[in-house]
Amino acid sequence: MKFPLSLALVSIVVPALGATYSQTDVITGPEFLKNFALEDIVDPTNGRVKYVNLATAQQDGLVSSTSTTFTMRVDNTTVLDPNGPGRNSIRIKSINTYTTHVVVANINHMPQGCATWPAFWEVDEADWPNQGEIDIVEGVNDQEPNMYSLHTGPSCTMPSTDRNQTGTVLSTDCSAADNSNAGCGVGSSDSNSYGPAFNLMGGGWYATERAESFIKVWFWERNDDSVPVDVANPGNTVNTDKWGTPDAYFPDTSCNFGTHFGSLNMIFDITLCGDFAGNPAVYEKSGCPSTCVDFVNKNPSAFSEAYWELASLSIYQ
Ligand SMILES: *[C@@H]1O[C@H](CO)[C@@H](O)[C@H](O)[C@H]1NC(C)=O
Ligand SMILES: *[C@@H]1O[C@H](CO)[C@@H](O)[C@H](O)[C@H]1NC(C)=O
Repeated sequence: MKFPLSLALVSIVVPALGATYSQTDVITGPEFLKNFALEDIVDPTNGRVKYVNLATAQQDGLVSSTSTTFTMRVDNTTVLDPNGPGRNSIRIKSINTYTTHVVVANINHMPQGCATWPAFWEVDEADWPNQGEIDIVEGVNDQEPNMYSLHTGPSCTMPSTDRNQTGTVLSTDCSAADNSNAGCGVGSSDSNSYGPAFNLMGGGWYATERAESFIKVWFWERNDDSVPVDVANPGNTVNTDKWGTPDAYFPDTSCNFGTHFGSLNMIFDITLCGDFAGNPAVYEKSGCPSTCVDFVNKNPSAFSEAYWELASLSIYQ
């Protein structure tokens, strides 16, 4: 009776596994430069930055590490020639690519300040938007809260209601071709999830689960007692079933993740101004001074807090 036996095995094995993933990488301190490469490309989002290579970044102190931290920052000493290149900055991309996985980002500090547009996200740059984009940490001009978002090829939408999440639906059409590529965003329920407030409390943890039929993102503040043990202390496995309701929940009800999401790199970057932060309506609404590009050109010391300090990135598959 082979058939019933295999059915019995399935019914035992599947619930036991639940949403358990096994650790494949824990990246800390100097290991970031082994697992990620600097991208000295022209910013695809038209920011007032010049992404530098590793030699320049190290020489100018724009990347640095200790045994427990990795820091990436923007140049904060140079007054820019308005007709010359943008402010030196950093963009790093993971060597590995990922399909279904969990990634826990333990972040101590994120870039803050007028004109800043930091992001931690997943993408296949060679085939955007057809392989999908998952934005985990993103915001502009110190405007909290954090925004989670997907960007895809045509015909991928998210439900506007019945989302089992604590965050707020901002928009539901994920297609990059629609709504000026606004994506299908979710605003965090926690005003400390982004910018100066996030940094003031020493940061926190962003955890993303990309499964076959959904993408979830959770956020815990640094001092949140409810942070799961397997998030706060990375070990061999994580069980996302025990993490409670996520801040953002993207179900595959009217998208087809199988065709819209491929194998993605992880990216951290710091851009300034550009298509989002530098959009005049967005920049003015934030209460930031002058025009975005002029502010970046003339005020190097305004970028002293425009840095990522990462404690660790733990990846499970
Ligand atoms: C929402 O998710 C939480 C955490 O996974 C779960 O306990 C709860 O039953 C879910 N609620 C609904 C309505 O699906
Ligand atoms: C640049 O930023 C660093 C780190 O925040 C700070 O120590 C330094 O004083 C800043 N330099 C200037 C010129 O503002």
